Amino acid sequence: MNTTVSLTHSDEWQQMLALGAKTLPSLKELFLNDPERAQRYHLSAAGLQLDYSKNLLTDEIRQALLNLATRAGLQQQIAALFRGDQVNNTEHRPALHMLLRSPRRTTVYEQEVHAVLASMERFVSEIHEGLWRGHNNTQIKAVVNIGIGGSDLGPAMVYAALTPFHTSKLQCYFVSNVDPVHLAQTLAPLDARSTLFVIASKTFTTVETMQNANAARNWVLQSGIPESALKQHFVAVSANTGKAAEFGIAAANIFPMWDWVGGRYSLWSAIGLPVALGIGMENFRALLHGAYLMDEHFRSADPGHNMPVIMALLTHWYYHCHNAHSHALLPYLQNLHLFPAFLQQLDMESLGKQVDREGKALQCDSGGIIWGSAGTNGQHSFHQLLHQGTRFIPADFICAIAGPTEHKQAHLQLLANCFAQSQALMAGKTLQSAKAEMLQQGIGEAEAAWLAPFKVCPGNRPSNTLVMQQLNPQTLGALVALYEHKVFVQSVLLNMNAFDQWGVELGKILGSGVFKALSSGSTSPDFDASTSALVAQVIAHYHSNK
Ligand code: F6P
Repeated sequence: MNTTVSLTHSDEWQQMLALGAKTLPSLKELFLNDPERAQRYHLSAAGLQLDYSKNLLTDEIRQALLNLATRAGLQQQIAALFRGDQVNNTEHRPALHMLLRSPRRTTVYEQEVHAVLASMERFVSEIHEGLWRGHNNTQIKAVVNIGIGGSDLGPAMVYAALTPFHTSKLQCYFVSNVDPVHLAQTLAPLDARSTLFVIASKTFTTVETMQNANAARNWVLQSGIPESALKQHFVAVSANTGKAAEFGIAAANIFPMWDWVGGRYSLWSAIGLPVALGIGMENFRALLHGAYLMDEHFRSADPGHNMPVIMALLTHWYYHCHNAHSHALLPYLQNLHLFPAFLQQLDMESLGKQVDREGKALQCDSGGIIWGSAGTNGQHSFHQLLHQGTRFIPADFICAIAGPTEHKQAHLQLLANCFAQSQALMAGKTLQSAKAEMLQQGIGEAEAAWLAPFKVCPGNRPSNTLVMQQLNPQTLGALVALYEHKVFVQSVLLNMNAFDQWGVELGKILGSGVFKALSSGSTSPDFDASTSALVAQVIAHYHSNK
């Protein structure tokens, strides 16, 4: 794309705005006028099906969005991503998380990836076969991952999503918060002799992770395990192997990762070690393979038949032409209950920026707010707002055709709700039908006329429905890679660097200053009045000479 003419001033962007200003036929009319709509606005890739027919979309709009993608140089940007260009231009790095799941072993990077996978495989086997034991020759029964952000959310989400694939040999736990109750409550039922800690941190400097790692070390020592046996209970995953060694992790117990993998894109690396321990290496490799299949689709499919591209264009259309500020993630699979939280970091830490890749102020909104929860629970909490609120909130429904064989009826209930919710968002309920329904129920004319406005659902609220045959390692891998690439396409449409996160530095720096005041008991003259007052309350509690 010609960066001197910013995309927002391009003819293609103006054409998109013009179409956004036009009144569209309702979704119900669009379906009535085109019996083939559901078939035409449907894609398959890497074991996933996307029904995107319930979107505020016509062929004209679809083409205009594809023209915008062309103007943004999307194809060239995808090629640059896979080629290993420094797409992360502020940290002067490529973003090559795709290599983590590539079967190829041609480049040095790929060879390093496969060497680490082999070391993970050996380690998983040693733990599972009891060749690697804790103090007093105790079999490892618990794996506690200590990490935060991309060193927690991805592995924790995958481990939960693949519960049916858990090995019976051990149980994995994930501790992330510096709130001491998180570690304490996790460790309370565990026996240090059968517990292995994975300290996961790309930088190995993250305050929360270091705090928890030290507390875990103390817990192990206080349980009577000698310092000499710590190496049996601690391994690390980091791009900063020096810092990991400084912490005291034996060199042989450090699984490296690379600076060309962003934290929120790293679950495929040794950051996924707790997952591999929890589901076995064969299933972990199936997860990688699913992501690889989506990579190949993303790299090769033309934009009009490219699942990440279509999903990104639709979100872009809603953020910039329909005043959408958020996107709801509604996985109708209980085991995907952590998926919205995972996607929050992936999307919002990638797209939550105010400058483009040249450092110039964005001329449009940044990425939006990602939120949601597993269905059907959301129907009993926030779906009221989705159906009748005044805000425009596009939604992604995610479901699997096959559920647990022994509970077919309940799984059909789940699917029925998933499909009905997107249908209700699309079709809505008119005043007339609301009133007619009540009259049919025998409600009097006056009451029906009074209540009808309260029952109207405007409808015409868009959603995607992603369908997989079954939630398994391969389809999960494809699903996660789908959203990684969707986020990347959105960043191209914003001419934004999706792979840095400078915005988190300020809070970290201020946090260490406030911590110093709180722990020393003396406030700082640099604090604003609010922070000073808050700090004073804590100091009064902890440092009063009572
Ligand atoms: O939130 C900032 C961040 O750097 C994330 O990008 C990252 O995933 C997380 O903190 C943890 O970082 P690390 O893996 O280096 O501990």
